[in-house]
Amino acid sequence: MKNLRFLPLLPLFLVLAQCATSPAPEVTPSMVKKSSVSAERLENGRQVYRTSCVNCHGRATFGHSDAAYWTAVVPHMADKADLLPADQADVLNYLIACQLEADRGKD
Ligand code: HEC
Repeated sequence: MKNLRFLPLLPLFLVLAQCATSPAPEVTPSMVKKSSVSAERLENGRQVYRTSCVNCHGRATFGHSDAAYWTAVVPHMADKADLLPADQADVLNYLIACQLEADRGKD
């Protein structure tokens, strides 16, 4: 149980981890509605995006691509990020939902 002595530092590590990852758009009710994907799945996709994609890339810009683009790119990147199939599906849905949100008002 020696390792527990670091436990008081945990909040600090969490804050640092938070700062190290660039922001990703928050999941909104409108994204849930447009994508027809549950808030829980989109939220998981956002976490996966923040922990697995942003390391290598910094922040992606939404609004210059579309669902077909993400559908083609994510499987390739999921290999690099070593994602589980369920996380790959969630991150793809999240990126498409962000895209739909960024596209609003264009149609
Ligand atoms: C290990 C580092 C690494 C990780 C993790 C990673 N990428 Fe990439 N990504 C790259 C590199 C290197 C390229 C450019 C070369 C290539 O396409 O292989 C790239 C290219 C891209 C492109 C542009 C592709 C194109 O053809 O224009 C997008 C979009 C992208 N990544 C999104 C993501 C997403 C979303 C994730 C998380 C699921 C992710 N990446 C995870 C390294 C990474």
